[in-house]
Amino acid sequence: MIPFFATASAGTEDLLADELRALGLRGVRSGRGGVRFAGGIADAMRACLWSRIAMRVLLPLAEFPAANAEALYAGALDVRWEEHLDPTRTFAVEAVGRTEALGHTHFTALKVKDAVVDALRERRGARPNVDADDPDVRIVAHLAGDRASLSIDLAGEPLFKRGWRLAQTEATLKETLAAAMLRACGSDGTRPLIDPMCGSGTIAVEAALIAQNHAPGVHRKLGIERWASFDETLRAELRRMRDEARRGVRRGAPPVIARDRDPEAIRAAQVNVKRAGLPITVQQVDPAGFVVVNPPWGRRLDGGGRRQLKTFFWQLGQAWRGLHGHRIAVLAGGPEFESAFGLRPASRRPLWNGPVRCMLLIYDLD
Ligand SMILES: C[S@@+](CC[C@H](N)C(=O)[O-])C[C@H]1O[C@@H](n2cnc3c(N)ncnc32)[C@H](O)[C@@H]1O
Repeated sequence: MIPFFATASAGTEDLLADELRALGLRGVRSGRGGVRFAGGIADAMRACLWSRIAMRVLLPLAEFPAANAEALYAGALDVRWEEHLDPTRTFAVEAVGRTEALGHTHFTALKVKDAVVDALRERRGARPNVDADDPDVRIVAHLAGDRASLSIDLAGEPLFKRGWRLAQTEATLKETLAAAMLRACGSDGTRPLIDPMCGSGTIAVEAALIAQNHAPGVHRKLGIERWASFDETLRAELRRMRDEARRGVRRGAPPVIARDRDPEAIRAAQVNVKRAGLPITVQQVDPAGFVVVNPPWGRRLDGGGRRQLKTFFWQLGQAWRGLHGHRIAVLAGGPEFESAFGLRPASRRPLWNGPVRCMLLIYDLD
């Protein structure tokens, strides 16, 4: 059983823990900044393919006291980097956190980089190059309370990069945060969903991916696929998991609707939704819209009953009084509507629905 650490944005750790348990992972414990779990490399790859909330999945390689730069360097030199990183591959070090003596993440990263280079030169006779933008092996150095932990990231690019986002808008949510919101509110794709202020469509896309049981990481390359230790057995296992995920996609899920009033946002959402290949309805809406309705009346209401009818109209009035800026037109079949609805109409017009005298009531909501 290898211990792993999946990172998550602050506040979403327990949701990630829930998600990882639901994926069948063992030893799941949430903590600050992420969730521990234990298992084989295949379990960690499954987390990379299926977690919607995790940002990274880390394989910890060492943890040691690092009161100063020398201790950090010495601890990092001891790590068997050569198992995953050889001189033909590139790497990058990202440092997180600080201690009293190591207050600058840039300096911390540099120290670890030096140790990695020296270790490889010593043991393999050549050094690997650094590639800050697109490294084969991503090393994460985490400092806290005078201790350092060094890990490598199985995910590669952070997991919120699902591959469907072509367009951004202002204040775009991270995919992982949108997924956490959906999990927190219990939206599991079995009921319709609407995001009335969708921006670039993040929430809607994530909701539709959930509804289709679509593994969010299935299309992307994982970091581990570029490690020296990624052998034929792991390759076959990952291929099997991807095939299984593709076969498990559900069609015909309940509708997902994404609306926004801004045409730019709508364009962005359309581009993203198209790229994701999901059946999401994207609509530009004027916030001050019309609601035009002919509610049931009299004997048409299921179960009948004047009282029940009045309660229903009252509930509509309560719900719709919040539709600020809207105009509501109601064709009321009887006199009980207006008093039960409880709002004051701007105008009334009698209309005949065949032999029945109705009233068209128009409400302008401030
Ligand atoms: C914070 S952004 C949403 C970002 C989105 N979650 C994403 O990830 O891209 C808020 C959005 O609300 C839209 N908006 C603001 N007022 C609105 C209104 N009254 N009706 C519909 N959309 C509105 C804006 O156009 C903007 O796209």
